[in-house]
Order: sequence, then C-alpha cells, then structure tokens
Amino acid sequence: MKRTHTCGDLRKKDIKKNVKLTGWNNSRRDHGGIIFIDLRDRYGITQAVFDPKHNKEVHKKAEHLGREDVLFIEGKVRARGKELENPNLNTGEIEILADKLEILNKADTPPLEIDDRKEANEDMRLKYRYLDLRRPVMQKNILVRYKTTKSVRDFFDKEGFLEIETPIMAKSTPEGARDYLVPSRVHAGKFYALPQSPQLFKQLLMVSGFDRYFQIARCFRDEDLRADRQPEFTQIDVEMSFIDEEDIYGIMDRMLKQIWKEVLDVNLKIPFPRMTYQESMEKYGSDKPDTRFDLFLMDLTEIVKGSDFKVFTSVISSGGKVKGINAKSCAGFSRKEIEELTELVGIYGAKGLAWIKITDKGPESSIVKFFDGRILNNMIKKMDARKGDLLLFVADPKHHVVDVALGELRLKLGRKLNLIDNKKYNFMWVTDFPLVEFDEDEQKHIAIHHPFTSPKDEDMELLDKEPAKAKSKAYDITLNGVEIGGGSIRIHEREIQEKMFNILGISKEKAEERFGFLLDAFRYGAPPHGGIAFGLDRIATILTGNESIREVIVFPKNKAAQSLMEDSPSEVDDEQLNELNIKMDLVKKKEKNAVFEKIIGLLNMKGIKYEVMEHKPVYTSKEAAEIRGTELRQGCKALICRTEKGFVQAVVSGDKELDFEKLKNIMKVKNVELADAKQVKKVSDCNMGSVPPFGNLFNIPVYLDKKVTENKVAAFNAGSHTRSIKMSGKDLIKVTGAKVEEFSR
Ligand code: AMO
Ligand code: AMP
Repeated sequence: MKRTHTCGDLRKKDIKKNVKLTGWNNSRRDHGGIIFIDLRDRYGITQAVFDPKHNKEVHKKAEHLGREDVLFIEGKVRARGKELENPNLNTGEIEILADKLEILNKADTPPLEIDDRKEANEDMRLKYRYLDLRRPVMQKNILVRYKTTKSVRDFFDKEGFLEIETPIMAKSTPEGARDYLVPSRVHAGKFYALPQSPQLFKQLLMVSGFDRYFQIARCFRDEDLRADRQPEFTQIDVEMSFIDEEDIYGIMDRMLKQIWKEVLDVNLKIPFPRMTYQESMEKYGSDKPDTRFDLFLMDLTEIVKGSDFKVFTSVISSGGKVKGINAKSCAGFSRKEIEELTELVGIYGAKGLAWIKITDKGPESSIVKFFDGRILNNMIKKMDARKGDLLLFVADPKHHVVDVALGELRLKLGRKLNLIDNKKYNFMWVTDFPLVEFDEDEQKHIAIHHPFTSPKDEDMELLDKEPAKAKSKAYDITLNGVEIGGGSIRIHEREIQEKMFNILGISKEKAEERFGFLLDAFRYGAPPHGGIAFGLDRIATILTGNESIREVIVFPKNKAAQSLMEDSPSEVDDEQLNELNIKMDLVKKKEKNAVFEKIIGLLNMKGIKYEVMEHKPVYTSKEAAEIRGTELRQGCKALICRTEKGFVQAVVSGDKELDFEKLKNIMKVKNVELADAKQVKKVSDCNMGSVPPFGNLFNIPVYLDKKVTENKVAAFNAGSHTRSIKMSGKDLIKVTGAKVEEFSR
C-alpha cells in the first residue's frame, strides 16, 4: 500500500508523524508563495502545505496541480495555528508539511464540480455519474446503502434464514407491470422475461422445504417512472412457511428496528402501529398514510344531504359522497391559492373544490347561501372549524375519487403549511386490503396484490358471489407516506388458486401456460406460506434523507428509463439482430412519424395531460376545428418563419393572422417571411400544414401568441394531417419553453 493513512485519519495525536497520503486534489490555494492543497479520498479531506522555504522543489511541482489530479503526498503532520483550525473537518486541527509530491495521474478539467454545495443539473450528474459519485454526499449515500444491506443480511442470518439466488432469465412473473424481455437465440421467436420479483420462485422454494428464505434481489419492471420508481430496483425479499400475518409483522418489525439502530443509531419503538386499508383511505385518502401530521379527511355526506347545494345533493343521490378537510388558519388564502388547490384535485379526477372561509363575520363563500344555519353548524362542529379556518370540500359519485383527491390535497397542505416533522420515522402496517377490484376499463376483476394472495378465511364464501367485497391476507408497510414493503399470506391449495384465476378471468389454459409449474408444485405438498418484499432503494432513500431513489443507486436510469452515462438503451448490430431472428420493420414504420413520437415522449415525461385524435385528413383550420369538435380559435397555426437570424416558429390561434410588423419588433429582426413548403419540410420534417407548435423539438425558438396560451384547449396537427393532439394552452408554454407575446390580428 502506498499510503500510511487515509485522508480522514489524522488528528492532533499524530503530530510529528511522518505520513504518506493518496487522493484527489480537491482544491489548491496559493497564498503568496505558500500553496495549500486539500487532498480528498472517501474518508475525508486533509490539508497539505507546500512551503518554498521548507522545500523549494516540491513547492515548484505543486504550482501546476489541477483539480482532481491524483496525488501521492509524503510529509510531516503538524498543528495548524489556533486561528487556522477548521472545525468543519475531522482533520481540521492538523496539516501535512509536504516533503514529497508525486502526480499519479493528471486529470482533465472535470465537467462538474466535486462539491456538495454546487450540485450540477441532474442530466449532467447522470452523464458523469462516476464524478458525481465522488461527492462526499453521494459517498455517504452509498455507504448507508451498504450498511443497510449488511444489517439485513446479519439479521436474517441470526434468525436462521438462507439467502438463495433465483433466476433472472425466466418466465414472466405477475406483479402487474410490463415485462422486460430477453430474446432467445437458440429458440427462435421465444423470450425470457426478467423477473418483476422472485415471487414464484420463492413460493417454489417453500414447496422445496427452505422454510426461511430471503434474498437481496434485483427486480425489473417496465412502468412509468417517478421519484420512487426505477425500471430496475432491489428488493429485500422474504418468504416463510408455517406462519401467519403476526409472524411477518413480528420479524419485520425487528428487522427494521435493527437497521435503524445500526445505520442511524435511532431506537425505533416496536411493534409498529397498524391500520386497516379502509381506515387509511377514509382518514388519509391514501393506502400509504403519512401519519406525521393529522389534517384528516371528514365525511360530511349525511350532514349536507339536506342542503340546497345541487353539486353536493346530486352527487349524494347518485350514491356518491362529500368529504372535506379543515385547512387550519388558512382563511387568508388568496383566490389564486385556492385555484391552485382546485387544479391539484382536478388531476385526481375531482370536478371542483368547494370552500368556506370562517371569518370574523362567520362562514363566507359563494356557496354558504345553499346551507341553512343548522347544517352549517353541523358542518362546523364536525370539522372543528374555528375563526380563521378554510374548509375545503370534494363531492363525487366515485368514493375513490373523493378520497384520493382529498388525500393528495392533504399532502399538499401538509407541505405548504409546514406540518411535517422531517425528523419523525412513522411506520404503519396497512392491513386488510381488498382481494380484487373491478377494473372499469378492462371490465374484469384484477388482483390488488397479486393472484397468489390468500383471501381471508372468513371471506372465502364471498369469492363465488361478490369477490370485490372479499378481503385478503395482504399487508403493506409504509414509512412517512411511502410504501416501503408489501406482501401476503399465499394461497397454497390448488383448488383455491384455480378459483382465484377464475375470478381474475385467467382461463385454465392461460393459467396452465403461465403458472403451470407452480400449480403442479402445489399438488405435491405445499406448506402454508407467506412473505413480503421491501423496496431497498426506498428504505435507503429515507435513511439518507433524500427524496429520489436515484440518489442511492450508483448508476440509475433517468425518468425516460435511459442511462445517459453509457447511453443505453442503444441500437445493436444487424448481425446480432439476425442471430436473434429480430427484424426492425415496425420501428422503421414508427420512425416515419418521429415528430409525433417525440411530442408524446415529451408530454409523458413532463406528466402533462393530452388527448390524441385520429381523423380523416384536414388541411385548413376550419376543417380541423370541425373534425376535432373544437372552436376555430382553439386550433393552433404553427407557422415556420424565416428571418435573417434563422428560422423561428410563431404560433397563433386558428381564427387569427400573423402580424408581421409586431413580430419583427418582438424578435428585433428586419425580415420575417413565412417559410416555403420545402423549407418547412427541411426544418421540421413535417409537411406544410401538419407542423405542431413544438419548434423546440426541431431546435428553433417558439413564440406563442398570448391568445393561444389563454385557451383551455389548444389543438394542433401532430406531424400529420390525420392526427391531432389536444392539450391546455398553458401547458404549451411549459413544454415548448416558448416566449409568450402578442403578435396576432
Ligand atoms: P410489490 O410489488 O409490492 O410486491 O413490491 C415490493 C416493494 O418493492 C418496492 N418497489 C419498487 N421500488 C423501486 N422501483 C420500483 N419500480 C418498485 N416497485 C416496487 C416497493 C414495494 O413495496 N412479490 C411481491 C412481494 C410479496 O408478495 O412477497 C412484490 O414484489 O417498496
Ligand atoms: P359552480 O356552481 O360550478 O360554480 O361551483 C361552485 C363551487 O363548487 C366552486 O368552488 C366549484 O369548484 C365547486 N365544485 C364544483 N363541483 C364540485 C365537486 N364535485 N366537488 C366539490 N366542489 C365542487
């Protein structure tokens, strides 16, 4: 080993020692002759001093050091002057007076700074992840992750569990996401699926008699990504035989307690509390309740039933419900703030957000007149409303919409009003999930957890009559409003499993084809069993105080499931494809409408609502409006213009014309002309008349006329004369980065 100590080791007691250190040049300061180098490795930072009076030659060498050069420094430890000590560094009391300097490797100027205080944007961080990982914060995140897995392994070892690996290339598993597929070369036209979880294999291991299994397991799911979701992620996967729910709760409580003790030195109180799914939905409007603050949802259906407010009474008479939240001390919210909240509940399907302010003069709102004094009083009593409070209500025929919309509103208010204590670790077992739910779109029952979850013993009879009413032996565990784990006691009898498939509309043949091996195994003495899986990435995210799981994964994918660093996914050689018997015909077809794909990709990535319409070809704004069922002014004329500075896009409403003079002034150019068909094609790869208002996708600036952005609906041809997209005018600004000006007439 070249070094005698790490950069985090040295203290006062080491003064006078001769030491050798290695690391990266974190920074260099030249103080009138004397040079200071902060040498960094993953253990810390140590200051080295190059003094020409001490050693001229070494000083000279240090003059040309660049950031992130890899160095070897030898020298003597000495005390820093009293006033020069750095209390922010563990090694802040000492420094090394350098006698020797070796440059082990020169570094190019790094594209991002290795400095926790200057975080680069996420794309840069992911592209140069190996540099981003040098930052102390990231090193700590990865260390915490390691300590967590270590603690988990130690725990299960002590408890008599075996860690067993299960296949990565196998048959599709049923966790409800899309599979990632691996084509087989040897078996043309056939595919392996990457596991969405080791679910089937761990159940088979129970049949094999490995009654206590665990695995730190990689899982792969092709689903929409969010801050807490990655296409590949890691589970702490567990399965046990001869157990019931209580065994799971008991063991898992202790595992989590140990992790928190060993990683954070925090003593958690177990057993963790429990709540039924129903209670969680009713009070918190979520199956992952953030119990760090109250602000409960309250049911007002009975109270407002007799009012004159049609919005409420019509919803109630169609079987719906009305619930509300008391936003304490928020009567001062502005119209705009309430509008924002209304927009939020809208995302979750609510058709509006009614409100009442409790002011000095009593309840105030445009809807107060619909409630008589008795009803108002009951509402106020039920919601414990005081002067200064703001009462917010959602009514909907669909109970789920009311709960979820208010649940999200609750979270938003919790953050906005600073009600959340970030130091708390609030765990909660959520129990008694329904077994299945009826999917309106697909017109069939789908499993809430997965098809192998056992119904509650007392609900077996419901399976034949009203499966949607049956409860299951499934449980989730949540922490601070995040689902960190979930599992169930399984079905271990073949007949019940078959009944379950029947309910889910999985035919005998289909079940045989997909899960035949499991059903077969159940014939040969399957023990009663159950298990759970935790999201390791999510646990590590919370342990490190982060929001996004990307912070605890060394090389994560971005929101579009790409790795920017190595550029995956990427194309492969024709030769490879030939061997796999794969032909790219469909891809080529799709590429033909690359513009449309790009727009959809962008809108999805930004989570923006839109609607796609296929229709017969349209060539004028009027034709387009007719076929789309929109007003003329809601259409967008996305005009590509030529100026002396290059091409730009100017977008005006379907009922307006471009005012060239105004546009010239705005863009500060002398000439603006409409581009001709050939130029349009060249710039946008679209035919004239089918260009969408997304010039940003063709790398030209976009100008939106104010009128367009004021439209609730903005409709446009999306790269073809036969396909339109409808979205909000406001969102257009967001996705195109457009300048909004007035240039129509
Ligand atoms: P489930 O699908 O609930 O259950 O997954 C278990 C836990 O894994 C985490 N998780 C994820 N983390 C990051 N990115 C993702 N895309 C992602 N998807 C899930 C969550 C979740 O609680 N086989 C069953 C478990 C069982 O029944 O034993 C299963 O996989 O924290
Ligand atoms: P309106 O009569 O449509 O002007 O609505 C009056 C108030 O009721 C507005 O604040 C709306 O946001 C609100 N509102 C409309 N529909 C609902 C609903 N389904 N639930 C709660 N509030 C609603």
